[in-house]
Amino acid sequence: MTQLRIAIQTKGRLNEDSMTLIKEAGIKLQVGKRKLLASARNFPLEALFLRDDDIPQAVADQVADIGIVGENEMLEKKEDVKIVKRLGFSKCRVSLAIPKSEEYPGIEWFNGKRIATSYPVILKDFLEKNKVKADVHVISGSVEIAPGIGLADAIFDIVSSGSTLVSNRLKEVEVALYSEAVLIAPQELSAEKQAILDDLIFRMESVERAKDKKYILLNAPNEKIEGISDILPGMKSPTVTPLAEPGWSSVHSVIAENDFWEIIGKLKEAGAQGILVVPIEKMIF
Ligand code: PRP
Ligand code: ZN
Repeated sequence: MTQLRIAIQTKGRLNEDSMTLIKEAGIKLQVGKRKLLASARNFPLEALFLRDDDIPQAVADQVADIGIVGENEMLEKKEDVKIVKRLGFSKCRVSLAIPKSEEYPGIEWFNGKRIATSYPVILKDFLEKNKVKADVHVISGSVEIAPGIGLADAIFDIVSSGSTLVSNRLKEVEVALYSEAVLIAPQELSAEKQAILDDLIFRMESVERAKDKKYILLNAPNEKIEGISDILPGMKSPTVTPLAEPGWSSVHSVIAENDFWEIIGKLKEAGAQGILVVPIEKMIF
């Protein structure tokens, strides 16, 4: 039977959210300690655990069929892969940062400076675009300590919460890239594998759609139903069913989490009672 092999980061910033995403798609991976491969019991998917740096190449070389990786990693590696879905987690910036004590007049500050980074490809592109001539030093980890020990004048690295910069007395001065986790695939997959991927994406999207939506149930006297229905955006029109009590109905609909407080207030004003709001697990259209 054909299986789709997905490359996932072994540990680090993307691992946990990647595993959650797969779990929420209803896929049960049997993951052992220190295992390189894990297969699913109830879906034709197999996970291959790799360092994030290695994931773009693994997909390009068909060691894995698809992968979850930071967009920054994908852009840095310039492998022949494409984004099939943006995943919305592990959001970060890839930025230039300089010692806090330095005055920063603008990007020309970087001319002639030494910049330490693990992302030389993205950095060189960015410098070229901004007509800056600087010295790029490639360091594979702990880039943030380079200025403090005199190894560089500045750094180009991932910034997420910003706490690494703060604790190293650095300040972010230019953002080159906004990045997030992405699902990558080769330009082409076999028809069988593509079908599995389509199913996987469909599941992910159903979970995603449900996340910012709530199911709402309320009771109201029949003469108020029309006014209440106008307030509820819903997917289509709300479901209205009569209650045992004559002259009363129950109204069901779906609302966006963001509109929640505004809508609840309006519903009460319009005569709604016994309002119940419950989470939705999945939403299939
Ligand atoms: C990145 C980056 C910083 C840190 C920034 O490292 O190199 O060290 O995250 O995050 P913050 O703004 O929330 O402090 P990462 O955790 O990816 O590990 P690595 O540098 O070892 O690859
Ligand atoms: Zn780091």
